[in-house]
Amino acid sequence: CGIVGYVGPKQAWPIIIKGLKRLEYRGYDSAGIALVKPHEIKTLKKAGKVSVLEAYAADKDLSGTVGIGHTRWATHGEPSDRNAHPHSSGNQRLAIVHNGIIENYAILKETLISNGHVFKSDTDTEVLIHLIEEIQKEEQCDLTEAVRLALTQVIGAYAIVIVDKEQPDQLVAARKGSPLVIGVGENEYIIGSDASPIIEYTQNIIYLKDLEIATITIRGIEIRTVQNEIQTPSIHKLELKLEMLEKGGYEHFMLKEIHEQAFTVRDCMRGRIYPNEGKIQLGGLKDFDEKLKTANRIIIIACGTSWHAGLVGEYLIEEYARIPVEVEYASEFRYRNPIISENDIVMAISQSGETADTLAALEIAKERGATIFGICNVAGSSITRFTDAGVYTHAGPEIGVASTKAFTAQVTVLTLIAFYIAQLKEKIKPDAMKVLLTELDSIPDLIKECLKTEEATKYIAQDIKDINNSLYLGRGIGFPIALEGALKLKEISYIHAEGYPAAEMKHGPIALIDEGFPVIVIATKSSSYEKVVSNIQEVKARKGKVIAIVTKGDVDVRKSADFVIEIPDADDTFLPLLATIPLQLLAYHVALLRGCNVDQPRNLAKSVTVE
Ligand code: G6P
Repeated sequence: CGIVGYVGPKQAWPIIIKGLKRLEYRGYDSAGIALVKPHEIKTLKKAGKVSVLEAYAADKDLSGTVGIGHTRWATHGEPSDRNAHPHSSGNQRLAIVHNGIIENYAILKETLISNGHVFKSDTDTEVLIHLIEEIQKEEQCDLTEAVRLALTQVIGAYAIVIVDKEQPDQLVAARKGSPLVIGVGENEYIIGSDASPIIEYTQNIIYLKDLEIATITIRGIEIRTVQNEIQTPSIHKLELKLEMLEKGGYEHFMLKEIHEQAFTVRDCMRGRIYPNEGKIQLGGLKDFDEKLKTANRIIIIACGTSWHAGLVGEYLIEEYARIPVEVEYASEFRYRNPIISENDIVMAISQSGETADTLAALEIAKERGATIFGICNVAGSSITRFTDAGVYTHAGPEIGVASTKAFTAQVTVLTLIAFYIAQLKEKIKPDAMKVLLTELDSIPDLIKECLKTEEATKYIAQDIKDINNSLYLGRGIGFPIALEGALKLKEISYIHAEGYPAAEMKHGPIALIDEGFPVIVIATKSSSYEKVVSNIQEVKARKGKVIAIVTKGDVDVRKSADFVIEIPDADDTFLPLLATIPLQLLAYHVALLRGCNVDQPRNLAKSVTVE
């Protein structure tokens, strides 16, 4: 979910609406805003996108200089007007926006009901605001104190902002586990789940820390902990630019982000590789050289697309650095009793740096003594602050919910890490390293070549747009590419797509294949090329439709495939950075033809801060 808050001299409504639109990628089931004036809180909320709320509010009085807003990704309670945030207290004095989950809400709710509270929604959030109301009444205290006392009773994760019509000039914000940043402008403060609603007004931001509560008025900000210790806020300078958050002439953010990859992969390598010297440098890890040299094992934890990048990382790190790697879904890892030793390195991969399962898995790894690293895109995010060290992906803000440029940047970082450890352990000779780094350096240009497959993918999209099912196949390093290609298609076009190791097809998926069944195959030149060609023939023998990603100049696959998409020749090591591009474009064009909302696919959210 996305949160915005404003206090300052300007009208709050337009700033909050604009902020919510920028945050909409975090969730878009419903949206709402509460404006505060002395003795009055006006709340407007609607199921649907922020634009629905905007249209609904068009003829209403929207004046006010203090307010809070929310765009929701439903957890407790279906998306509806009633369940949309802000939620108010029973006495209508307070309103809250909340991101996260209050885990002990059921028990709190029971006690509150027995004290006479009546609830209007099914949300855990409404329970929290009633609890604050109850404490405010009992203790006769101000809002900040009531929030503080309430938070001592709460189990779960939250980022919250609360307003009180009896203290109408202030916002009270707090966080634990869910992100919240505060922009510090000239006599004004803008709160956001991330910096995107803030960037237009100020570059100065405070990252609220876990278990901190901020009391914000036009006159200043005061931060204390839930234990009531006063904190001195530290102000950071944002490096984000507004144009990074806009579409720059593209029809969708996703398309812009696909096209940006030639530059983002370059940005990710900048200052890190020295092809002429055959050297690689990773500033973020340099204090851990010894640890990397002697590590027994690397465990990669991630979710979604980041997990696919992890699988590529496994292949590369084992190949070059010769350290055993395990790749785990964060959500599975954390609920086992994982065996971790002090000689293990646990690496989290996360675009947002906020994914709740990934963060929780890291906590377990840290408790058990592992060294923990992060590969994140968002600077200052929770994972970057929690880890011992890390490497940023530097892909710039990714707004499209389906991850594209973040994936290739993660793969780039993992390639760098594999080479870096190999260099430390002297597993690659300097000359061989020169060759590898020279080729890596040329990858951004090859990505440009891959982007030229867009016309071909448009053409193929026309042919397959009405399918219901599909299979993606790859071998070796091509397998995670198949998984990622399938995920892209399913996320944005709602076509069922399965990624499979090509050789495993005969153990199940082959039963699906009949006339016209689409099979997308990564069939570039590699050591397993011949085998993949045989797999293609197996599909053709059953009259399936083959769409193959091949190396430029390929002749064999062309003979049997229905469609081929050519990508430039490169070492297998770099295949994920190239072959993924046409698969992203194919998913995009299929989704477009099916009339789907490419940037905000149904039911998904970009940053999943619930477990
Ligand atoms: C969500 C997003 C995916 C993303 C995953 C992990 O499901 O929709 O695109 O891959 O979360 O997110 P992270 O920020 O940890 O990489």
